[in-house]
Amino acid sequence: MKRLEIVGQTGRSQILVGESLAGAEGFLPDSPVVVITDENVFRLYGAQFPAARVITIGAGESIKTLETVQTIYDRLIQMAADRSVFLLGIGGGIVCDITGFVASTYLRGVRFGYIPTTLLAQVDASVGGKTGVNFMGYKNMVGVFNQPEFVICDPHVLTTLPEAERACGFAEIVKHAAIADADYFELLERSVDGAMALAPDIIERIIYDSVVIKSDIVNRDEKERGERRKLNFGHTLGHAIEKTAGVRHGEAVSIGMMAAARLSAARNLLDPEEVVRIEKLLTGLKLPTDLKVDARSIIEALGRDKKRQGDDLFFVLLAGIGNAVIETIPLATLETVLTGSIQR
Ligand SMILES: NC(=O)c1ccc[n+]([C@@H]2O[C@H](COP(=O)([O-])OP(=O)(O)OC[C@H]3O[C@@H](n4cnc5c(N)ncnc54)[C@H](O)[C@@H]3O)[C@@H](O)[C@H]2O)c1
Ligand SMILES: [Zn+2]
Repeated sequence: MKRLEIVGQTGRSQILVGESLAGAEGFLPDSPVVVITDENVFRLYGAQFPAARVITIGAGESIKTLETVQTIYDRLIQMAADRSVFLLGIGGGIVCDITGFVASTYLRGVRFGYIPTTLLAQVDASVGGKTGVNFMGYKNMVGVFNQPEFVICDPHVLTTLPEAERACGFAEIVKHAAIADADYFELLERSVDGAMALAPDIIERIIYDSVVIKSDIVNRDEKERGERRKLNFGHTLGHAIEKTAGVRHGEAVSIGMMAAARLSAARNLLDPEEVVRIEKLLTGLKLPTDLKVDARSIIEALGRDKKRQGDDLFFVLLAGIGNAVIETIPLATLETVLTGSIQR
């Protein structure tokens, strides 16, 4: 088991990689615990949950709403949960985001922790203190920054995760390596087979290295003013592709990272051989790197990006593998690039 710590303005968060779901009991306070989970995770792992009352929500992005938050408040009130309650989110990124938001707002804030059960939640959603829900069709529109007391990443639960869900986690993992750590990128290149097979030592090392990179960036810039923007590598285009083409988040990010890599090469920041390495790694992890989409509709979606500044977008490029740089790029330039780089 490996342990690391995030020190944020809203508190400290301990991340335990390799601790087991069954071992979570030892991290819980003496006060009453309420588990928040989704129906799939409850079906698969409910029997291994620590002794506690359980609130089960549905699954899928459409339930990540204020209505769901309200039903949880309602259940907590029915349970007579007071400020001593500890909320434990056990599930994917949706469960973690909702649990963090409920815990930050119920009775003006109660203690909470996460046991993320998807690869994406282990390396991304549970780390960094962002919590929240979607509102009127806008993703993560309402939320707060707040750190869970602990995050327990148990790699064993990933074995039941569908391959496409795992791939979404791998997209974020490649992102971490590409923006921050060339050695880690090489490790991933060497470990594709083991990673895909969820070989315990390899997957645990990968989760740990990714969490280190994300938490390091978050520790330096919790509220996303500068450094943290690097985590948007592949995401500016990715979000637009996700909305326009209706592909999964991780798949859209993978395509977005490739487009950003090609744009980096076109600007002589990245060696064409490095573009090939990124493509090979993503393909090895069963992620798409190209998509036939209408460049115009993507540009329109980009125009609605909440991180847009006038006619420019903050765009993360690579000045070599392991070294992200942020540039402002006019939307008009992107349209030209998109036509050439996504629709190849
Ligand atoms: N807070 C953040 O910083 C942050 C970062 C990235 C993503 N997110 C959010 O995370 C969400 C996506 O998270 P996700 O990809 O984990 O999706 P998810 O929570 O919907 O989980 C994906 C699916 O896998 C199921 N599942 C969960 N664990 C399982 C397991 N061990 N075995 C089998 N099935 C399992 C779930 O029931 C669900 O159907 C999005 O809402 C996104 O906005 C938040
Ligand atoms: Zn992402």
